[in-house]
Amino acid sequence: MVTAVYTAADLRSRIAAIPRVHLAMLPTPIQRCPNLSRDLGVDLWVKRDDLTGPAFGGNKVRNLEWRMAEATSSGADILVFGVEITSNSARQTTAAANMLGLPLVLVLRGTVGDEVQGNLLCDLILGAEVRIVDLPAYHDLERAVGDVVAELRAEGRTPFSLNHGTMFARAAALATVENFLEILELLEPHDRRPAHIYISSGGKGLAGLSLTKKALGLPVRVVGVASTSNEDPWQYGAQVANDTAALLGLPVTVSPDEIEATFEYIGPGYGVPTPEGMDAILTFARREGILLDPVYTGKAAAGLLDHIRRGMVPQGVTVVFVHTGGQPALFAQSRALVQHIGGRD
Ligand SMILES: Cc1ncc(COP(=O)(O)O)c(C=O)c1O
Repeated sequence: MVTAVYTAADLRSRIAAIPRVHLAMLPTPIQRCPNLSRDLGVDLWVKRDDLTGPAFGGNKVRNLEWRMAEATSSGADILVFGVEITSNSARQTTAAANMLGLPLVLVLRGTVGDEVQGNLLCDLILGAEVRIVDLPAYHDLERAVGDVVAELRAEGRTPFSLNHGTMFARAAALATVENFLEILELLEPHDRRPAHIYISSGGKGLAGLSLTKKALGLPVRVVGVASTSNEDPWQYGAQVANDTAALLGLPVTVSPDEIEATFEYIGPGYGVPTPEGMDAILTFARREGILLDPVYTGKAAAGLLDHIRRGMVPQGVTVVFVHTGGQPALFAQSRALVQHIGGRD
């Protein structure tokens, strides 16, 4: 079977047909990395989706444009969102809710440590109603969110659960479809096309990039570096890619074996900093002035640097690293970072 190949302009017009609200500052810039390019022997660029704008930015602001459009069109007068207590998504969702003038209840899984820092501090500054729940598993959050929704309904409110929105996964994939197009558009004046794209994702973001590569028929390797082993980049990723293709009206199918992901750089677990991830943070900071984070992008950059050193990325090719944000975790994990810097310098 011959798969039809679509143009970037065609994908853009399909994206434009999907209702969205305006939240992000787009396109986000692409930054050339001359020092790291010289050090590593590749032509390295960083796509700055950490610079989407509101409340320190990050990859969620872009996808919230579609998720919030769904929420507002439902007639909701209050939003509910359940997620990990350290979540970047919670921070960006609170900023988006404020911009749209909607109150938000955050149901956050975890416990508060000695000091309120990072994203949780931002959530409190931004004024979300925070309810902390100490639940054993992430999927228990769905029930906790359902309880809050029921409670609000009983009070006569019209809540919308962002966890249960039909756009939840597809908006995250749509965001990276659009981001991929921006990468191509921003590199074009430099006469460049990416040979490799690396992103911190074992799921939705990777699904969108993999779909775009397939739809445009580009000979680019898209690699997702996972930060949690709770995701299935292959089966789930293919499902999200295909649901997103359907949303765009694209008769394109992504199969699990067309998705490239690695779990090799997670370390002891989600949110636990690794020496390699912290080394990568220092490398990008000291060579290019770019701050990564210890939970997602530092580990993804560790994967990229290791793949280059191991020859899995050929010398001389153009590589784009997608910076998805998350820097407030630098402050929440300052102890590990200070110790790492002390041990290295
Ligand atoms: C900074 C950062 N990078 C990457 C991801 C992964 O995003 P996704 O699961 O949508 O691919 C997240 C998700 O929370 C994130 O906060």
